[in-house]
Parts: sequence; structure tokens; C-alpha cells
Amino acid sequence: MKLKYEHPLKGEVTVPGDKSISHRAVMFGALSKGTTEVTNFLQGADCLSTIDCFRRLGIEIENTPSKILVHGKGLHGLTKSNSMLDVGNSGTTTRLISGILAGQKFETTLNGDESIQSRPMKRIMEPLSMMGADITSIRGNNCAPLRIVGAPLHGIHYHSKVASAQVKSCVLLAGLYADGLTSVTEPSVSRNHTELMLRGFGANVITEGKTATISPDPELIGQKIEVPGDISSAAYFIAAGLIVPGSEILVKNVGINPTRDGLIRVCQAMGADMTLLNKRENSGEPVADILVRHSNLKATTVEGEIIPTLIDELPMIAVMACFAEGTTVIKDAAELKVKESDRIAVMVDNLSRMGAHITGTEDGMIIEGGYPLHGAEIDSHLDHRIAMSFAVAALAAEGETEIQDADCVKISYPNFYEDLLNL
Ligand code: S3P
Repeated sequence: MKLKYEHPLKGEVTVPGDKSISHRAVMFGALSKGTTEVTNFLQGADCLSTIDCFRRLGIEIENTPSKILVHGKGLHGLTKSNSMLDVGNSGTTTRLISGILAGQKFETTLNGDESIQSRPMKRIMEPLSMMGADITSIRGNNCAPLRIVGAPLHGIHYHSKVASAQVKSCVLLAGLYADGLTSVTEPSVSRNHTELMLRGFGANVITEGKTATISPDPELIGQKIEVPGDISSAAYFIAAGLIVPGSEILVKNVGINPTRDGLIRVCQAMGADMTLLNKRENSGEPVADILVRHSNLKATTVEGEIIPTLIDELPMIAVMACFAEGTTVIKDAAELKVKESDRIAVMVDNLSRMGAHITGTEDGMIIEGGYPLHGAEIDSHLDHRIAMSFAVAALAAEGETEIQDADCVKISYPNFYEDLLNL
């Protein structure tokens, strides 16, 4: 894919459904009695992996252009798959489904692509084992492929070392099958879609500060879910509007859950011309339309408790920082190293190729803004968020940029380039 700046970006865009919420709607629908109807479901490869896994576990799922129908079989209705589950590139599928599989009465093996096979799974194997689960990394390297043999589970209070919604959700989902209460305490609060949505399906989930607690064996009932637009996808248009001179973009129907809205707070701190319009609620999740205009950004520091609320937006924020006056510091974000790619190393490498003044650190990046970017050849490392961040960087850079393996955007945003071109 080759991209080159020609003119300001103008107009409206409606981003696709939220990836985290789409995964959970299928999973929780599968564990419920009755049919769950999901509209604005994200048809990205990751969420399709979740559908495929649950079909293999005996759940009938209709995927029509207007909606998804999940014909749930209740908490104890999954059946053994006669083949290995393929989670593709999806960390969310891997970690959440592992919590569910730990409490079944059958054995499952799961595996995914090369990236998944190098991502850390000890973070879920440890708490699941504490609950009594039988989960093994088949190659003994604490990564997928994983073998999970269903076992009786005990409730635990787990103190997680990382603020990770995937770890928290994995343990809470295993808690559905435990013999008592299960709690997870995190160092800072991660996205809470599991807690909100499970409650909507009828589970007893209590949140107090950084701790979430679930009661076992609820009767979950199928729901109607309208998935809000994904703020992580909106991030690319928000950034494009802010950094491409003369731009004005309205990004419609964006989920602004406070555990996901760190990007908005960072943009405001950078002096962005940004307005939230038409605030409303969708299936228990807050939503707004976001209007952005080109702005003279200033540097900021992104650290501490805000990090989990914008973890997937940090590559885009690093690009924005190149166009801001002053030095932006991103820290407390070591988790970036274990995403679909090592997002610290990959951002430093690719932004340096474009002429940015950027240094990688152990837990983040330091970016000196104000040095104009020029076109370059970008290696996406098959990471969707890297490809999209550099598509935006390219529009604000001098000359032409070529992105390798640009079609990896299909993981979370299959029509990304079309939507960008429409602006
Ligand atoms: C997600 C949680 C985050 C995020 C990922 C989706 C989720 O991962 O990066 O894209 O849906 O729970 P971690 O929980 O590993 O931080």
C-alpha cells in the first residue's frame, strides 16, 4: 500500500464495532440460554476467530450482513471440539476462551499464528492453575499451543501483576465455573467490558476500585447487543484530523467508556481542537460523535493509570507526538512489547525511518516533536495497529510512504483504507 499527502481530510466516518465488545458478545451469548442478537458486530479476522472457535465447541452462530445470532446453550452447554481451536492472531480469543475452557468437562487444544505463538500465556496459566485448572503450554515455553483439560475449579482472589483486561476476564470467566467467589485485583483498572456485559447477561459481578468479583454458576440469558464503534479504530481518524493541515473530521458513534477513553484525555492535554457531540448510551456503554480539526499540538507525558485506558492507541499517540511542539514521554507501558508485535521497537524503527527523533526506553518512548516526517518504507510486522498508525503518519509526511503487509488491517478494520480514502 502506497500513501501520499495530497489535501486535507474532510467529512464523516463511522468506524466499525468495538473489537473487545464484539468478542465478548459472542462468548457470553454462547454461555447463555436463548439467542443473543448482536448488531454492528466487528467483522474483523480476530472476532471471526472467536466465532469459529465457539462453532467448534458446538454453538450455532448465524453471521448475516445485518446481525449475528448466537444460539447459546447455557453455562454448561459447550461440547468437545473434534479439532484444535484456531485463534488466529487474537490474544483476546486465546486468553478469554482459556478461562472458559478451564471449567469444562472435556479437553481442548488451541493454537494460532506465529505472533500468538510468541505472546506470553503464563499470565493466564498461573491464576488458572491456582484455581485448579489443568493448562499446559505444549512446547513448554509458556506460549500457545495450549492444552486445557477441564477440571473442578476453586474461587481465588488473584492479585494480577499486570493491568490486563484479558487476564482479568480470563480469571472472571473461569470464576463462572468455580466453587465460590472469584476476585481479581489489578495494579490499575483495565477495560471493564467483561464486567459490564456479564452483568447485563445476568451474572453477579461486583466492582470495587481495582477489584472485580464474580459469583459462580449464574443463569445467563441471551441479550440484544448493539456494539458501539471502536475508539481504538476511531483513533486513526482523530489523529489524522489533528495532524493533517486543514482537516476537519466527524467520527461517529464512538464508544467512550472511561476505561477506554485515555486517548481523548491525551488529545485534550495536547491542546487538540476536539468536541464530543451527541453523548448517549448503547447497550450499557457510553457513546459520542467526535469532531476534530487540525490543531497545533503540544507535547505531553503519558504515564501511570491512564496507560491501560489507551494501550492500543499508543502507536498512534507516538505518531501524533512527532507533530507536537516539545518532548513527549510515554512510560509505564512495557506491555507494548508483548502486543501483536513489540510495539516499542517497531515504532522506534519505523518512525526513525521517517525522520522522527524518537528513542525507545524499557517501558515506553521519548519523542522530540517538530521534526518534519518524510516518506519511507514501513515494516508493519503484520501488526494491524502499526499499519494504520503509519497510514496516518504518511498523510502528514512529505513524499510517498510504502507499508509492507498493509492488509493486516483486516484483523480489526477490514475497510480501513477505503474509509480513509473517502475522507
Ligand atoms: C483487550 C485488552 C487489551 C488490548 C487488546 C484487547 C481486551 O489487552 O490490548 O487489544 O479485549 O480485553 P491486555 O489485556 O493484554 O492489555
